[in-house]
Amino acid sequence: MQDKALLDPFGRRITYLRLSVTDRCDFRCTYCMSEDMVFAPRAQILTLEELYSVADAFIGLGVRRIRITGGEPLVRRNLVDLLRRLGAREELEDLSITTNGSQLAQLAGELRAAGVSRLNVSLDSLRRERFAAFTRRDRLDQVLAGIAAARRAGFRRIKLNCVVQKGRNDDEVQELVAFAVEQGLDISFIEEMPLGSISSHERKVTLCTSEEVRARLAERFMLLPSSYRTGGPSRYWQVAGSDTRVGFISPHSRNFCSDCNRVRVTAEGKLVLCLGHEGALDLKSLIRRHPGDAGRLRAALIDALRLKPERHHFEADQQVQVVRFMSMTGG
Ligand code: 5AD
Ligand code: SF4
Repeated sequence: MQDKALLDPFGRRITYLRLSVTDRCDFRCTYCMSEDMVFAPRAQILTLEELYSVADAFIGLGVRRIRITGGEPLVRRNLVDLLRRLGAREELEDLSITTNGSQLAQLAGELRAAGVSRLNVSLDSLRRERFAAFTRRDRLDQVLAGIAAARRAGFRRIKLNCVVQKGRNDDEVQELVAFAVEQGLDISFIEEMPLGSISSHERKVTLCTSEEVRARLAERFMLLPSSYRTGGPSRYWQVAGSDTRVGFISPHSRNFCSDCNRVRVTAEGKLVLCLGHEGALDLKSLIRRHPGDAGRLRAALIDALRLKPERHHFEADQQVQVVRFMSMTGG
């Protein structure tokens, strides 16, 4: 159904949706939130039914992969009900979750049974004190237990996401890869993006580029270029002699917008066409004005895609250009 597909003015086909199910989180990562975040009132957050109708509209328009994000998606009550409904949709090739791992020890089995195919787990440090400094929560053990539970539940190709900051964890990247190899995980290193105003650090001082990380890794591992692509912004390398793939997400050092295949919907039902732009379309008011009107929702999405910006403009000086925090937009 070529004509029903979501195409933007730059010829990019949208096949991937990142759907945030909550702006709340049990952690307060310094690069993501301030300690005293104000969260949206519950009435402003899409209900599980509304989230499903958004996902359904996108699936009807050709989206084949959905990633559930937050905040921390697993703190959303009854999320598994939504996952079960999505997991049953034959059209979806991939249903994945980005999580901080804190609830995985309890939930991994249920997620697997619901049809979730892949997990990304955020992990910035394997050292207890550093982990606590990054997340403002002393929960490293809980997260490691969560990763172990996910492996036991049968998840394959679990991927760690690690935001690298100079002077904070850049000296640990080799250990993190060694951990990934030992546990049979993939790992992506992420350059911090200037999303939301934060006070804990100066981003231009802590920015560590993917090139720097790769150079450090090359001292200890042989990284073979890999043709593996997820359709996302990551570039992957294979750690020789292991199953582990190392990815780099480099919003600063590499502009990857030309093959962007994704859009995001926030927990409040705002359609975000590009992480680097403020513009967003309010799907929630449309859904609440016309509940159950799938046709109208689809037409609005097709229309909105005409506004997808060509590229983001994150610059090296790390000025905040987007006041939205990552926890609102969802990874
Ligand atoms: N820059 C880069 N990555 C971020 N994340 C959260 N905030 C930022 C930011 N400002 C990452 C988290 C998690 C994923 C959801 O996004 O570490 O892995
Ligand atoms: Fe929570 Fe993830 Fe933000 Fe950390 S990065 S505060 S775990 S939403």
